[in-house]
Amino acid sequence: MTIAKADRLKRLPPYLFKEIDRLKAEIQAKGVDVISLGVGDPDLPTPKHIIDRLQQAAEDPSTHQYPSYSGMNDFKGSVARWYQRRFGVALDPDTEVLTLIGSKEGIAHFPLAFINPGDVALIPTPAYPVYAVATMFAGGESHFMDLVRDHHFLPDLGAVPADVARKAKFMFINYPNNPTGAVAERPFFEKVVEFARSYDVIVCHDAAYTEMGFDGYRPMSFLEVPGAREVGIEFHSLSKTYNMTGWRLGFAVGNAQILDGLGQIKSNIDSGAFNAIQLAGITALESDQDCVSEMQRIYQERRDVLIAGLRSVGLQPEVPKASFYVWCPTPNGYSSEDFTSLLLRQAGIVTTPGSGFGPPGEGYVRMALTVSKDRIAEAVQRIQRLSF
Ligand SMILES: Cc1ncc(COP(=O)(O)O)c(C=O)c1O
Repeated sequence: MTIAKADRLKRLPPYLFKEIDRLKAEIQAKGVDVISLGVGDPDLPTPKHIIDRLQQAAEDPSTHQYPSYSGMNDFKGSVARWYQRRFGVALDPDTEVLTLIGSKEGIAHFPLAFINPGDVALIPTPAYPVYAVATMFAGGESHFMDLVRDHHFLPDLGAVPADVARKAKFMFINYPNNPTGAVAERPFFEKVVEFARSYDVIVCHDAAYTEMGFDGYRPMSFLEVPGAREVGIEFHSLSKTYNMTGWRLGFAVGNAQILDGLGQIKSNIDSGAFNAIQLAGITALESDQDCVSEMQRIYQERRDVLIAGLRSVGLQPEVPKASFYVWCPTPNGYSSEDFTSLLLRQAGIVTTPGSGFGPPGEGYVRMALTVSKDRIAEAVQRIQRLSF
């Protein structure tokens, strides 16, 4: 029998971490102590009070049945209260909050609700790969908006041709940004709302990293801007804020009609997030946020060690005000892949080639602050011994 996969799988870009994983395995097999600054997965454990609540909730048989499709009312209420406290944004928990099985799930399903074959979506590049892949899975075409240093890694909306803008169904933006670590301020979000209104484009703001701000910086929500709720939604996640990547809990908030479309897709695909996890999510959002401040302090310390170390060898990394990524230009004309490979082969350090996030990422590597300060210091010492 011939097993023929669908064309959409043939159109997938090469898996970003495939070559790195292969090289990493090869280097580890030689007995090298590898330091991984590759994947953006927090190394710290979920805070204990959240784990305790999950344990207790899992003992309660009422959590064992199918959850509600759109999420537990109590969890959605907690999300609304958290948005009010954190951003001063009032949300109706019934219609303006949708529970997700991690924000990736919502992002990946979103285009199925709004794209017809051949429709266009505006997608940043370099970017989290799911935006473009999910658009392609739904039969849409991505029009890429370059994120470059000269434009503070914000898309230049004026550079989107008017005929493309008129055809576009939605736009993804993501601040604090993966992979560049860039942040966006109110004037940018205001321009996005104006653009969305002019061209009838839905805005999806991926806000997964708003709680990872440094030096007292507190990233804002897109929904704080007047008119944002009329044009868009925001994706959010408990993954990075509370070291809960494995738990799979996120949410989307904002425009009720847009959320209703996403909810319709979801109700035909999944059956909601495990109630015990949503109950633990309530504990995360409603408890004292000291664990979040502690998380920010730890990443800030790591960031400072890495930035100082990279500068000591003449590299000129962007200093992130938020997110846990350092976006570093490669030295002396090295391509992203060549520099990534040099760091791995000669220093045992895993980084991600910027080109893997999209062509304008060429000439950069991404380093995730997901190992201890001591390991970062060790990585810096190894880099200082290299010549490039
Ligand atoms: C920009 C961005 N959005 C969304 C996600 C997905 O996060 P989760 O599905 O764990 O909520 C990630 C994960 O790395 C990310 O980097």
